[in-house]
This record gives sequence, C-alpha cells and structure tokens, in this order.
Amino acid sequence: MRDFPETTTVFDPATFDAETRNQFGEVVSAHTHSLHRDAMFTDEGLAALLDRYPREHIGVYRMGDTPESWECGRLGKVTGQQMVQAVKDGRIWLNLRAADRRDPELAEMNRRIFAELKAIIPGFRPFNTDLGLLISSPRARVFYHLDVPRVMLLHLRGHKSVWLYPREEPFVDAHGLEAVVSEKTEEEIPYSPEFDAGGECFHLAPGDMVHWPQNAPHRIDNGDDLNVSLSIEFMTPVAQLRANTILANAWLRDRFGLKSRIEARPNAGWLPKVLLARAFRLLEPRHKKPTVIPHTFLLEES
Ligand SMILES: [Fe+2]
Repeated sequence: MRDFPETTTVFDPATFDAETRNQFGEVVSAHTHSLHRDAMFTDEGLAALLDRYPREHIGVYRMGDTPESWECGRLGKVTGQQMVQAVKDGRIWLNLRAADRRDPELAEMNRRIFAELKAIIPGFRPFNTDLGLLISSPRARVFYHLDVPRVMLLHLRGHKSVWLYPREEPFVDAHGLEAVVSEKTEEEIPYSPEFDAGGECFHLAPGDMVHWPQNAPHRIDNGDDLNVSLSIEFMTPVAQLRANTILANAWLRDRFGLKSRIEARPNAGWLPKVLLARAFRLLEPRHKKPTVIPHTFLLEES
C-alpha cells in the first residue's frame, strides 16, 4: 500500500509536476490518490454498497484466458456479502456502471476527483463523466481493447498489471479505431503478443492511478488477490472533437472509400469533419449497438 500524506484530499499534488499538468491526457501518466483508505472499499463496505445498488445496473461477467471465453451473466438471489465472496472464489468481474449517478457516496467521490483535477490542471474541462466501480477476481483479465472517451483508472484494492500501448499502428489501425467509435464493433481490437515490446506495463497497488491518451489500446491482468478499482470515463472538448472526427472518417470510408489516418493530433481538417459528423447524424440514425451478449450464467447463492 502506498505511503500517502495524511490529508483529506484525493490527490497528492506532488505527483503533478508542471510537465505532467501540461501533458495530462496527451501522454501516459501515473499518480497517487487516497481513496483506497475509504471504508466503502472494505469487504463490509462493498457488501453494503452491493446490497443498496440497483441490481439491474450491476454488470456480471466471467472469463477464461481468451477473449472468446468472455461471458455475460446475471445476478440471482444473492446478497452483497455473497457476491464479494463469489468474486474472491471465482473468475468474475462485477461492474457497477455509471455509479456516480446511482449512488450518493460515489457521486460525491466523483465530484471531489474532478473538482481537484480541475484545480490542479489548467484548462482541464471534463464533461460527461462516468464513474464505474469494478470488483474483480484474482487472475481475472480484461482483454485488449480501446475506449472512445478518455479513461482514468484509480486502483483501490489488490494488485493488477495494466498494459498500455501507443495509439498508432501496428497497435491499432485507423479502420479498427473507426469501427469502435462508430459502434460497428465492440471495443475489442486485434492483439498480438509482439505488441508488448512496444507497450508499457504498470503494476498497480492500492492508491495508484494511471491515465492514458484517449483511444490508446490497453489490457489488464489481475494479480492473485481481489481487485477493486474505479474506472472513470470522461470527455473534454478536444476528446469530443476527436471522437466526432473519427466518426466522420468512418462514414467517409463506408460511403466513399476514403481512407483517413488515425487523427493523432488536432488539425484544421477536424472542423469540417465534425460538421459532417453532425450532418450525417441528422441524416441517418446512429448505428445500432452491437448485439447484446446473451446471459449465459447465473450468479447465485452457492
Ligand atoms: Fe478500457
């Protein structure tokens, strides 16, 4: 566990030097936080949270060693305490989605996180924040994928290895990125073990946080203990412009065979593409979300 200064703040400003503040979200950055000390994340605190949280918004999954083994389940008659035990005993992944809108304590935590970051980082203008609480088993995995918004991972319990890869070829190509942003595919993209030579691995302990550039591919391997983390997604004006530009690129590729690049840096071409994306959205409805994965197992009292 990290030695964190006695304070009531979430972040240690010492981990945000001038360069880090200027490049927040442009490069991978590691920080420390104090939220792992909160009693909400003890076994008892998690059990109470799971008991009061709306059941229909708790995602339950299990997995083996390959992406194909990923299964979506549902919760049967099971208490919060039994859920915590099932996660300790199995290879399960619980996701309390959009928890900042569904639990007052986590909403307050989300508010503190962003209030402090806005005070520390000049010009940081996050919106559409979405805080998810992840409770996962020893050895659980999240396979190689990328997310459309920016993501921060604040680690609370256990140990995990987070592999982060550059937002460029061969780790992801423009076509693959466009397919994820336009929701034609799930978030998973092709992975090769050779990518690891160009990736960066962070071994997270309670009190660690890592933030990476928008759309950077990543994967996660849990250690031998129960893992609890906050995965916080958000947009910023530039992140939103990038997402809309990539969406326009997806349509231009589909309709006219135009091959765009990965849009690594904001450029003058973004503005017309953002307008194009808006026009396309008016002309045709959003692509339907990929088919929902059927529930294939039931987590219940054993
Ligand atoms: Fe992710």
